Amino acid sequence: MDSYSLSAAAKINLYLEVVGDRPDGYHELVMVMQSIGLADRVTVRRIGPHQIQLRCDHPDVPSDASNLAYRAAALLQARFPQISEQQGGVEITIEKNIPVGAGLAGGSANAAAVLVGLDLLWQLGLTQIELQTLAAELGSDIPFCIAGGTAIATGRGEQIDTLHGLDGLYAVLAKSPQLSVSTPWAYKTYRQAFADTYVDVQTAGPTRHDRLRSSPMMTAISQQDGGAIGRHLYNDLEKVVLPAHPEVNEVKTALANCGGLGTLMSGSGPTLFTLTASRADAEAIAQHMRSRYSESELGLWVAPLLSTSLRLVKT
Ligand code: C5P
Repeated sequence: MDSYSLSAAAKINLYLEVVGDRPDGYHELVMVMQSIGLADRVTVRRIGPHQIQLRCDHPDVPSDASNLAYRAAALLQARFPQISEQQGGVEITIEKNIPVGAGLAGGSANAAAVLVGLDLLWQLGLTQIELQTLAAELGSDIPFCIAGGTAIATGRGEQIDTLHGLDGLYAVLAKSPQLSVSTPWAYKTYRQAFADTYVDVQTAGPTRHDRLRSSPMMTAISQQDGGAIGRHLYNDLEKVVLPAHPEVNEVKTALANCGGLGTLMSGSGPTLFTLTASRADAEAIAQHMRSRYSESELGLWVAPLLSTSLRLVKT
């Protein structure tokens, strides 16, 4: 094969708790991450010269080494110099459907697809754990984008513990096209405001992990109880992003009043989502929001919760 195409799914956070500062400068997190059926299409293709070329149909996505997908290819070239020498260069094509700067891990999903696509193209035979370890070097969300489905993520977010899937539930996503939130800004601002609530990660970190594992959210997930999951949605980063962006808070209130199971901001935002028990409920909420906000004011998507994140598609 000279090319592989993968569908690379976005994620939402059903739960995000900031525990404290890590010695490496990142935050220790306890999260529940969930793949959703809003996906980019990523193609990796063998090209003659020993180089990396990246093309994307979205104007805001860089095509140089600042793109995580580019860096994923460069990492594999550096780690497997002989194989990459034999194989030549790679062209990466990204067809963007996941909003950019949205808290939906679109860039991370693209990088995960490049790692998996090149593993196939170059026949590296890497295990999922090996791929996730490489992924963690590139970004905290990328290991989850390889694992997919429903998972607890701890550490920087890179330690993944897969849970039973939540098939059957849907999400309505809402994001203002004009607004994106920088993840480093969100964490830095959170630290400035809430550092006094941080616990010592070495001693108290494991207790926080255990607290989530025995929480009502975990019971709700294990019982696939959409109503209870909706009631226990939680994201610490809302405390800094919503006050800084009152328009996001306003959309959150409007979405929450539409009668879904629960509404939350995903990751560092600004995308908001409402969970629903069916596609029909999700479509009805999206329709209601469309009657209130124009397309230029608010992007709206309906997506099922998925049990995988990466899927091979025909080239
Ligand atoms: O790992 P990633 O590059 O996705 O993280 C982006 C930024 O978000 C980091 O540079 C850091 O500022 C912040 N971050 C953090 N703690 C985490 C994950 C991300 O402080 N666990």
